[in-house]
Amino acid sequence: DWTMTSFIDKEIERIRAIVGPTAQVVGAVSGGVDSTVAAKLMSSAIGDRFHAILVDNGVMRLNECQTVKETLQHHLGINLTVADASDLFLGRLKGVNDPEKKRKIIGNSFIEVFEQEAAKIEAAVEQQGKGKIEFLLQGTLYPDVIESISFKGPSATIKTHHNVGGLLDDMKLKVIEPLRELFKDEVRALGTLMGIDDDLVWRHPFPGPGIAIRILGEVTPEQVQIARHADHIYIEEIKKAGLYRKISQAYAALLPVRSVGVMGDKRTYEQVIALRAVETKDFMTADWFEFPYDILKKISSRIINEVQGVNRVVYDVSSKPPATIEWE
Ligand code: XMP
Repeated sequence: DWTMTSFIDKEIERIRAIVGPTAQVVGAVSGGVDSTVAAKLMSSAIGDRFHAILVDNGVMRLNECQTVKETLQHHLGINLTVADASDLFLGRLKGVNDPEKKRKIIGNSFIEVFEQEAAKIEAAVEQQGKGKIEFLLQGTLYPDVIESISFKGPSATIKTHHNVGGLLDDMKLKVIEPLRELFKDEVRALGTLMGIDDDLVWRHPFPGPGIAIRILGEVTPEQVQIARHADHIYIEEIKKAGLYRKISQAYAALLPVRSVGVMGDKRTYEQVIALRAVETKDFMTADWFEFPYDILKKISSRIINEVQGVNRVVYDVSSKPPATIEWE
């Protein structure tokens, strides 16, 4: 793709000109396509003067932290620091049921941990006599720019964790947003051109608060384990069926109710998994996905048989609006 190849070269030159010969750059990565493409561009431009930070908030998907680490560090050669803060996040989420409170806790803790890591990196590079951290990389896309200008509704909260506001004030960092004129499909094309795996390039969007907003009610380590396991099976079967790219977003939600079941000659009283899958262009409106029944049957029986603590699976047939894509 001619336009995209020339975009990469131009953007790398532009970044080098902005950052200059000694300044250091930090940026949060999540394993999503936007932050990964932005990070790859930055590291192509300035190498290890770019410091990517992955915050493990304890509510990422099964093995996700490890996979992202391997891909970014080993496959893409990005200078990455992983901050394992799962205990901090899960500790603060203890006893919290309200969805917006969960979001606030996760958003604020994210900023706190990110700032701490950036400060550590700053101290280390200063000791080595290298340049100061002067810039913050963000993987903002064109639709995010438009939305934050035109939309003053609940999305202000949705986006809080992206802002990393404190850093900009305390460390006086300047923001660099290499993707701010691009749409998602262009970012994906860029990712492919830069050698990023299809698996990552085509990954469904994943909310910052992670599976914490897909575990209804209190988030405990036990609930995290159940939700992760069910979601993993669900996505695995969707991929096996060749439906992953057709679906815009899919996940398993863990409901805070118990229902009666029977296993062998025993009565069970266990939790419910709700499967969500939607097709959408812009995530503002969405239709539920029409699964072939045999696929649903396979997913349901695997989850009930393999995930301890679950004896019932339901499929969410609600469109957005009035339902949202996430359950919280
Ligand atoms: P809803 O549930 O509002 O979701 O229909 C629309 C899209 O936004 C994502 N989403 C979030 N992303 N932080 C995020 O980074 C959040 O708090 C958040 N809440 C929802 C959701 O996954 C979907 O893609």
